[in-house]
Amino acid sequence: MKTLTTFFALLFALGVQAQHVMTVDVSHPAAKINPAMYGIFFEDINFGADGGLYAELVKNRSFDFPQPFVGWIPFGNVTIQSDGPCFDRNPQYVRIVNDGRLLRAGLDNEGFRGIGLKEGKEYRFTAYARTPDAKPMKLSVELVNANGDNLLKKELEVKGNGWQKLTAALKAPFTDAHSRLRVVLATEGTVDMDHISLLPVNTWKNRENGLRADLAQALYDLNPGVFRFPGGCIIEGNNLVTRYQWKSSVGPVENRPLNENRWNYTFKHKAFPDYFQSLGLGFYEYFLLSEDIGAEPLPVLSCGLSCQYESNEIVSLDELSPYVQDALDLIEFANRPVTSQWGEVRADMGHPAPFNLKMIAIGNEQWGKVYPERLEVFTKAIRARYPEIEIVGSAGPSASGEQFDYLWPEMKRIGADLVDEHYYRAPDWFFANAARYDNYDRKGPKVFAGEYASHDHSTGKANNFLAALSEAAFMTGLERNADVVRLATYAPLFTHVDAWQWNPDLIWFDNLRMMRTPSYYVQQMYGMNAGTDVLPLQMGGKPVTGQDSLYATAALDSNTGEIILKVVNAADKQADVRIDFNGLKKKTLVSGSCTYLQSNDLKAKNTLEQEALIPRVRPVQVSGRSLNLKPEPYSFGVYRLQVNGK
Ligand code: AHR
Repeated sequence: MKTLTTFFALLFALGVQAQHVMTVDVSHPAAKINPAMYGIFFEDINFGADGGLYAELVKNRSFDFPQPFVGWIPFGNVTIQSDGPCFDRNPQYVRIVNDGRLLRAGLDNEGFRGIGLKEGKEYRFTAYARTPDAKPMKLSVELVNANGDNLLKKELEVKGNGWQKLTAALKAPFTDAHSRLRVVLATEGTVDMDHISLLPVNTWKNRENGLRADLAQALYDLNPGVFRFPGGCIIEGNNLVTRYQWKSSVGPVENRPLNENRWNYTFKHKAFPDYFQSLGLGFYEYFLLSEDIGAEPLPVLSCGLSCQYESNEIVSLDELSPYVQDALDLIEFANRPVTSQWGEVRADMGHPAPFNLKMIAIGNEQWGKVYPERLEVFTKAIRARYPEIEIVGSAGPSASGEQFDYLWPEMKRIGADLVDEHYYRAPDWFFANAARYDNYDRKGPKVFAGEYASHDHSTGKANNFLAALSEAAFMTGLERNADVVRLATYAPLFTHVDAWQWNPDLIWFDNLRMMRTPSYYVQQMYGMNAGTDVLPLQMGGKPVTGQDSLYATAALDSNTGEIILKVVNAADKQADVRIDFNGLKKKTLVSGSCTYLQSNDLKAKNTLEQEALIPRVRPVQVSGRSLNLKPEPYSFGVYRLQVNGK
């Protein structure tokens, strides 16, 4: 025995690994994999919506921020008014007076840490305007670069003392991430203006109230199965008044009332007093995006508790009914015919067909007795009216501990269909928790890993390869346990490089570019290769959950007949793995490919300038019923294997 141990130690020292033998049982699928399993979670944090995915380039377009000139640089005689507003739910507007003495009167908008304009691209300027004294007036709309040079001017006329919509197409003559939009009153007199907006013409699917095309495309490219929105803590609000209210986010975009963002103050090391929600990206747009990217919508609503980390306001049980009604009305908005009250609102917005909502989450990271008390009221009401809708409850803000241990039994008692677990933990935790769900109760609610990300504190929580590799390893455990883990979404999704509050995040962007992190590519590799059925995979009679730093899972894609292997080698040495496929009967492996992500540098990151860490594809030599793999050091590989025969 001692000689054998010495032999292996010698091989190891020489960099030669002993062969690991794994078996995959092809004839006994262990569980179905939910087609919606790997998805995305979206929240307006880090300029995720306003300044990010929502393509509006003008900040505070309606002048309804508490400090109404935030985002604007007025010059000349410019004041804020609210008499006779254009939009009753966004009542403030700007009055520009050119008294003939001052050379210019008008205002610049600085956008979201600048306005990103691309040379040759078209932008749609819109605004509402009136001339109080009914005298025709001329406005100059200008695109200004970061040096302050006006490089494009377009003249518009305002006539009449009733509010009217102005539009102009502007073709940018330059590229600049920090441009400004300028509006100048060119003739003597007074003009009132509201909802001054600038959007690229080329949004995602070219919609007028659209999304930034590159960012939406990045979501589509993940092939997400589920889309959780709009938060996160944002649904709770800093207080109940500022909780996310979905009804405020539908209907004409100009009249959606501004709401303070939950993340406006939170991080003391960075003050962002300019973070409000225009709600231009609202529930209608979220449902539309779900449909566009082929993901099941999963809206999250307030349960009557404001953020428990912040004000911790509680709606008493006898005052909860408006909140419950919001949930019922949302289901009506999404699913009921156009003849229903909220179905008609959906149809008026352009979507008469239902959105086919199947799930709703009540509450985000809630805790304490107050949460199940409220969830139970919602659950009874939703079950009574919409028994087909699945209800997602919460296990609180942590993946373990007192609240987690209290809430899980409560979720079972109430009969939640899924329980949302959140974990932002170190890479070691993710590697060590690949077997987390192996012994979960199969009879209770299913798991929704609703927010997770590996936080490498030693590098300031960088979006590095170590974080991504540890997530890939952990996710083998999600997949192996697909009978109990039904959904999983990384968090947060987006961040603006000049306005981030929380890191790491899946996708970084500035006003012109975006960068997909290594974690993004891990999510994509799972999302594109989910498979339909878990196949038992073992090494030495056990699942592969980190033995010799290996993690592995196998699935069948019953649509194509392919076997999909996911293998993580978290060691600094190449591994030697033989996989025997049992139950293939007369079938044999005939071809295969491996999509892999690898780096010898665990601290490596992608940047806006270069995505060095991207998946690469190579062919895999196969024949017969076993396969020899040599997973490289620090690698995650997805193998798709084709079989033939009967
Ligand atoms: O993803 C960022 C935040 O983390 C979410 O808003 C919240 O649910 C969690 O605390």
